[in-house]
Amino acid sequence: MAIRSPILNVMGNAALKAARGLIRDFGEVEQLQVSIKGPGEFVSTADLRAERTLKTELRRARPGYALLFEEGGAEAGDDPRHRWIVDPLDGTTNFLHGIPHFAISIALERDGEIVAGVIYEPIRDEMYWAEKGVGAYVNDRRLRVSARRQLGEAVIGTGMPFGARAGDSAYVESLAAMMRATSGIRRMGSAALDLAYVAAGRFDGFWEFGLMPWDIAAGILLVREAGGYISDLAGGHDMMTSGDVIAANDHLHLPLAALIKETLRAGRAPR
Ligand code: IPD
Ligand code: CA
Ligand code: CA
Repeated sequence: MAIRSPILNVMGNAALKAARGLIRDFGEVEQLQVSIKGPGEFVSTADLRAERTLKTELRRARPGYALLFEEGGAEAGDDPRHRWIVDPLDGTTNFLHGIPHFAISIALERDGEIVAGVIYEPIRDEMYWAEKGVGAYVNDRRLRVSARRQLGEAVIGTGMPFGARAGDSAYVESLAAMMRATSGIRRMGSAALDLAYVAAGRFDGFWEFGLMPWDIAAGILLVREAGGYISDLAGGHDMMTSGDVIAANDHLHLPLAALIKETLRAGRAPR
């Protein structure tokens, strides 16, 4: 039985509380008032309600920590060493279309390093969690990335640009190359869960360009603690600022990254 630390309990309980509202709202998805946040991107009252609950719960437990929330943005705290990075609803488009694949993502950063992460999928009641040096788990089960070594046998997750960024030829090139090289591509619609799926060995790898810190902060730690490798396009660790992510097990990361870089050389920079 995996023992969660007090801070992970705080994060897990906050996610469970916010998820109750999301499940209620998901049931009434058609009655939600939706306002357009930007091209191809919606913000629903469900996002805002979940964010409010998470902020209240995390603040109550650790009043001084700084915040980076998707909807409310950044807030400084008395304790600048610590920062919560939160996406209250990752997979909003799925949610608003009644597709049951979305999650809450909460990460804790200490001195600029992600030290704890929780991704909670309300519909399946799956709590993915990781703590630096402790491992990655779903509920009480330890996670391990897949052991596959051949790209030709691999199932790879991705996120496709939409709206204003849909004309990104670099991404289209990388997708075409990946379609040829692998045994299948999946676009599930939640980057946080995509990374959790890499950690769980369901996906053999994942790539996406132009993500935001709250999409990936918890997932980065999950992949690492499950024994996987995650990098930016240059093979470095600048994912949180570049938003570009390539994740896989140790065997597949190199060929995956090489293939993507090759297509980018032919096209233009991802953004
Ligand atoms: C989105 C999802 C999606 C990814 C987008 C994100 P949101 O987050 O993670 O899979 O492709 O880039 O913006 O808007 O549902 O929180
Ligand atoms: Ca998101
Ligand atoms: Ca979101």
